[in-house]
Amino acid sequence: MNLLVINGPNLNLLGLREPDIYGRENYAALLELIESTCAQRGIEVECFQSNHEGAIVDKIQEAYGTQDAIVINPAAYTHTSVAILDALKAVALPAVEVHLSDISAREAFRQHSFVSPACRKTIAGHGFQGYVEAIDYLYADWKERN
Ligand code: DQA
Repeated sequence: MNLLVINGPNLNLLGLREPDIYGRENYAALLELIESTCAQRGIEVECFQSNHEGAIVDKIQEAYGTQDAIVINPAAYTHTSVAILDALKAVALPAVEVHLSDISAREAFRQHSFVSPACRKTIAGHGFQGYVEAIDYLYADWKERN
């Protein structure tokens, strides 16, 4: 399976950024976890982080025909981006939305996700482990079809 993992704005600042909410581990540690999880399962993974909405839309479009599934933490764009929703719908790849924090228990503006309707599942509030859960879900789904 070929997997694309997308992280949105400010997730490159993990560790530094509001550690009480997002934890003390940095983005490099998150990449290490994602890469080792995928290596153990024989999944080919590409990780992408951007602070720019259009770059994320471009990356989702590029995934069509090359990737089998997408894990996405759109970060703040979760709550604003119809463009990311439309891109996910356009490529129609199995996708899982991940959030480190429990967005349902935070400010009202974080409680609505524009991207959820294009995702099979939303995992929120499980920290880094949420990415492992998303990978396992998409891998099990892919194995059923292949
Ligand atoms: C986040 C939650 C978003 O509301 C926030 O804007 C982020 C990170 C999370 O992983 O918990 O940047 O997606």
